Amino acid sequence: MKSRERLVLLASAGASNALLNCSTEAFKQVIPANATVVLAQRVAENGTFTPPSADTGFPNPAYMLPALCAVQIEMPTEANTTFNFGLFLPDDWEGRMVVSGNSAFSGGVNYAEMGAGVTYGSVAMSTDTGHDSAFDNSWAENAESITDWGWRAMHYSVVEAKKVIKAYYGSALKYSYYNGCSTGGRQGLKEVQAFPDDFDGAVVGAPAWWTTHLQLFNIYSAEYNLPDNSSHYLSSELLEFVANETLKQCVDPQDGVTDNIISDPRRCDLNLEAMLCNSNFTSAASNSYCLNSAQIDTLYHYYNDWVEADQTFIFPHYEIGSETGWGQDPDFSYIEYFLGLGTNFTWADWNADIVKLSDEMNPGNATAGDFDLSPFYEKGSKIIHYHGMADPSIPTGSSVYYYKHVQRILTQKGIDLDDFYRFYLIPGMEHCGNTPSNMEAPWYIGGSSQASTIGTDGSGNHLHEREGFNDAKHDALLAMIAWVENGTAPTYLIGTKFHDESTLDYVEKQRPICPFPQQARYNESGSLWKPENWHCASLY
Ligand SMILES: *[C@@H]1O[C@H](CO)[C@@H](O)[C@H](O)[C@H]1NC(C)=O
Ligand SMILES: *[C@@H]1O[C@H](CO)[C@@H](O)[C@H](O)[C@H]1NC(C)=O
Ligand SMILES: *[C@@H]1O[C@H](CO)[C@@H](O)[C@H](O)[C@H]1NC(C)=O
Ligand SMILES: *[C@@H]1O[C@H](CO)[C@@H](O)[C@H](O)[C@H]1NC(C)=O
Ligand SMILES: *[C@@H]1O[C@H](CO)[C@@H](O)[C@H](O)[C@H]1NC(C)=O
Ligand SMILES: *[C@@H]1O[C@H](CO)[C@@H](O)[C@H](O)[C@H]1NC(C)=O
Ligand SMILES: *[C@@H]1O[C@H](CO)[C@@H](O)[C@H](O)[C@H]1NC(C)=O
Ligand SMILES: *[C@@H]1O[C@H](CO)[C@@H](O)[C@H](O)[C@H]1NC(C)=O
Repeated sequence: MKSRERLVLLASAGASNALLNCSTEAFKQVIPANATVVLAQRVAENGTFTPPSADTGFPNPAYMLPALCAVQIEMPTEANTTFNFGLFLPDDWEGRMVVSGNSAFSGGVNYAEMGAGVTYGSVAMSTDTGHDSAFDNSWAENAESITDWGWRAMHYSVVEAKKVIKAYYGSALKYSYYNGCSTGGRQGLKEVQAFPDDFDGAVVGAPAWWTTHLQLFNIYSAEYNLPDNSSHYLSSELLEFVANETLKQCVDPQDGVTDNIISDPRRCDLNLEAMLCNSNFTSAASNSYCLNSAQIDTLYHYYNDWVEADQTFIFPHYEIGSETGWGQDPDFSYIEYFLGLGTNFTWADWNADIVKLSDEMNPGNATAGDFDLSPFYEKGSKIIHYHGMADPSIPTGSSVYYYKHVQRILTQKGIDLDDFYRFYLIPGMEHCGNTPSNMEAPWYIGGSSQASTIGTDGSGNHLHEREGFNDAKHDALLAMIAWVENGTAPTYLIGTKFHDESTLDYVEKQRPICPFPQQARYNESGSLWKPENWHCASLY
């Protein structure tokens, strides 16, 4: 047989640089006897992996994969619960692991997002957090399952995944990365805080880190705009009117450039009364829409921090520019199941003592509220943290709060945050990605859930391999890899807005995303949408 033909045969027989076959039997040999191989199957180059039907929380397939072995392992915990983790083990492995996070309370192995992680020459891993479910949160009646969701399933999955990887390739992992947003961001910060050995680098987006307060804020703030037959209610059309008006008031004075993006919502002196109805039922803002006094009060709620009557600060407010995503129905699951206050909870049962109860219980120790990151720093590990400034789900200010509290602790210890922790606020980005239609701000930075949700059938996952995106400026995970492996610290990132995110047809806008507290400033000449015409500068 000619050698070329033999090579082709070897390659088609399976992973050429792996020690193990991609089979249930092979994996059984390398996992503890009390663990189970749920699946082990080959995926061919450019193939699709469809999650098992039990994967309720994350049913989306992963497309356009490199040739790999997909395996899912179930393990017991000492608390008589079980958890699963999935691995994509690519044939062409460069010694890395990228772990993806989950979203909200959903349980399931996040295979779609692993489809992005595996394209970085990495093994991709995701845990089911100890349960499978999309919207039914009754799993949280079991306090041990909350602990699994809070941290246990993730940490145990990371530890076991490292062993499986070593057995599969016959060599140890060189670099371990985390990439998650929202609940995924919380999971990343929790790992960094509680298990500093797990990762060399964590890219953390819009983290839902303050579980005890955030979950109640989500309920409390939803009630600002209810009931929907009251005089203070704002319909989605009126919220769009408010968004248009805040854009008009806040876009220009902030960055000196009328670019339709609210770059610094925190410094806008918004005049809500400009939207008030006059005697002709029009407003100074518009001749077709206006708000009554009670509706203006609703806006005051949204734009102000939640502070309880005893002056306890509970949660920061939503930013100006995030209005079009407001007004989602409240989900009482956290109160009902996590705090155990019963499934017949109604708004009439609300009282501020529930916040105290939540703080006391801290269900599952899920809150990632440890600000002393010195153990992670001392290991030489890195964090990139980002949050959209038009996030209508998790207020941007909760990330600012976290960063600044870490700064307080570490400054006193003589640690410069810039040495290991960079924080980016992204003007006009919503929750983890996307942008309001009236702003169309550049938002794509290769963050978690971004690549896997744009482009048809997974082509977004390969964006970081494309000319113009295959560098540490256009892709936050590459920025992390360059920092950890090459010692090149990130400065600014570059956000991208494609004309059409489903086809990734062409780049319409790009803009530097500056490290906090810097902001992008226009150089006063050239296109507004070319990053070279901007620079980062601090206002303070
Ligand atoms: C990959 O598969 C898709 C269908 O899923 C197909 O459209 C595309 O042409 C394939 N690409 C390559 C490089 O084979
Ligand atoms: C499962 O087996 C491993 C290896 O023997 C052991 O360390 C672990 O404690 C066991 N877990 C449970 C829940 O029994
Ligand atoms: C462990 O869980 C199973 C079902 O999930 C239950 O049947 C069994 O009683 C539990 N054992 C203990 C010791 O709680
Ligand atoms: C709003 O609806 C509720 C229940 O549907 C009803 O009890 C209440 O009277 C209504 N209020 C107004 C102002 O129409
Ligand atoms: C908001 O502005 C957009 C233009 O950006 C316009 O198409 C839309 O009709 C406006 N909506 C309202 C409710 O005024
Ligand atoms: C909720 O209310 C229903 C009907 O009033 C009742 O049958 C049920 O037992 C209640 N559930 C709880 C957990 O209190
Ligand atoms: C809860 O998690 C934090 C890290 O976020 C850790 O420092 C603390 O020890 C944990 N508390 C308990 C009771 O496990
Ligand atoms: C790290 O440095 C090497 C050598 O200069 C370069 O080829 C590679 O692209 C860098 N990695 C990243 C992620 O920038």
